[in-house]
Amino acid sequence: MSGRIPRQFIDDLLVRVDIVDLIDSRVPLKKKGSEFAACCPFHNEKTPSFNVNRQKQVYLCRGCGESGNAISFLMAFNNLSFVEAVEDLAAFAGVDVPRESADSDVDLPDKKTVSHVYDVLAGVASYYTEQLRGNSEGRQAVEYLKARGVSGEVARDFSLGYAPNKWDALVARFDQADLIEAGMLVVRDDGKVYDRFRGRLMFPIRDKRKRVVGFGGRVLDDSLPKYLNSPETAVFSKSKELYGLCELLEGNNKPERILVVEGYMDVIALAQFGISNAVATLGTATSKAQIDLLFRFTSELVFCFDGDNAGRQAAWKATDAALPCLRDGRQIKIMLLPQGQDPDSLLRAENSSAFMERIRNAQVLSDYFFENIAGQLELATVEGRSQLLAAATPSLEKVPAGFFREMMFARLQELAATRLAVDVGEKQARLKSKFNAGKSIPSPRVSLARKVIGLLLQHPHFASLVEREGVMLDELNFAGVELLMDVLQRVALEKPGNSAILLESFRGTPQEKAVKVLASLELDVPIGGEEAEFCGALRQLCKQAKEATLTRLIEKESREGLMFEEKEVLRKLLREKT
Ligand code: UTP
Ligand code: MN
Repeated sequence: MSGRIPRQFIDDLLVRVDIVDLIDSRVPLKKKGSEFAACCPFHNEKTPSFNVNRQKQVYLCRGCGESGNAISFLMAFNNLSFVEAVEDLAAFAGVDVPRESADSDVDLPDKKTVSHVYDVLAGVASYYTEQLRGNSEGRQAVEYLKARGVSGEVARDFSLGYAPNKWDALVARFDQADLIEAGMLVVRDDGKVYDRFRGRLMFPIRDKRKRVVGFGGRVLDDSLPKYLNSPETAVFSKSKELYGLCELLEGNNKPERILVVEGYMDVIALAQFGISNAVATLGTATSKAQIDLLFRFTSELVFCFDGDNAGRQAAWKATDAALPCLRDGRQIKIMLLPQGQDPDSLLRAENSSAFMERIRNAQVLSDYFFENIAGQLELATVEGRSQLLAAATPSLEKVPAGFFREMMFARLQELAATRLAVDVGEKQARLKSKFNAGKSIPSPRVSLARKVIGLLLQHPHFASLVEREGVMLDELNFAGVELLMDVLQRVALEKPGNSAILLESFRGTPQEKAVKVLASLELDVPIGGEEAEFCGALRQLCKQAKEATLTRLIEKESREGLMFEEKEVLRKLLREKT
């Protein structure tokens, strides 16, 4: 793809850039003792546990564990590859990235092409915006925008443009080879070329690094195809980019939620109505890559679809694509609009506050999932219930380990079990054993982790027992450990007088739902025995964590040997065992 970046350059760059300046330019930092702190940009929190150390030139979040140097920060914060992060860091330092020209490096010309592609796309985009304002033909496009209620300001914010109705507007102005690489020309079989976009309103698509990577173009009348998009090129992939993301982030790098809609004009209309946290997919189904990208910047996504059949199908597809992305703390909602409406038409038919109300009322993914999947089945019958399990299980298996997954499975069982209650005992027993035979349905017993967190939520003062038990928190590694940390931290900082005050502090946070469920969990603990139960479960968790570390270290020892600190840990763990 490109010449290798010299190691020495990367090392120098890390010396030249101060990580505090870099992070402060993205996430404002406050001085705290010898370090700098902020609320962590990688997980949701109210009290700052994200620390940047100038001496060591590293950052560490004590809440979620994200850590690293300036390059890892850019990779994580902007979802960049290593090379992209080095390039951005160099840009921050105001230096060019040198490339090693290895003898056998056949890749070097490609690098040249790629940067030329970006250059030509930027040139074309500004040519199109000039055309929108510059002449009488472009004025038709302006009139079209006006007729659709788009102001000059919004047109400028999105750098909308106009592609003149000519076969060679671009060919006459830019390098032909670059234009072909950029996907801006159509190459005929006989080798002749012509402009791909003619007589269209142009929507430049920019990536998260603000570079134009492609275009969408709409006709100004009813002719077909209504929209044309850039083809896939070295710099443009429809399933990775999102229209409007760059513009959204320019206004707000950490939006509370992001709305995912289907059309370019929907993003524009929403911005026109002051709702500037929307992005659009590019005429394809929402992909996992797009969802992961969006979750870099927010903890809540609202998918917005037309309420017709095609829209429902798209919503279901998006739900399925989203399941593997649903780590704890990430929330997805589904919003189906009235038949035949899209956000653009609906905003104009209603108004922005009605639309905001719809966003607020969007259905959480879990409800949507079960409603959709159960809606088509006869749950009163054995057949229907087994179909439910067969249909839902493969989808839920895609959810990563954590509370959300546990709750989804619990709900699946509940859905079947509730109906089971009306059946006669024998049938129920048969069915149950059938369920339990399948590996995928977890038993409903309360896991250790849930017990610990549940008891802690119900008795906040148990937090002091954690210290008394000598638990090394950073050694714990079960699913949900982040929530345990969060609860402990809240107790330490806010000293809630009781469970309710503690729960209140979770209101509006992504953990709210999980916390509620855990706080009201039936724990099956004898009255008065809670403290002992808590300590017992906690010790058990520590033991499990230690066993896991021990196994890992022993395995690594025999495979590749251990680092000094690892040896120390191993020695300590082995000593404890004897
Ligand atoms: P729609 O047909 O719903 O268009 O396509 P729209 O956004 O409501 O457009 P207006 O309001 O008529 O201007 C939604 C998206 O599907 C893709 C485009 O990305 C469009 O924004 N699409 C649609 C195409 O790629 N090609 C088409 O011919 C039509
Ligand atoms: Mn529309």
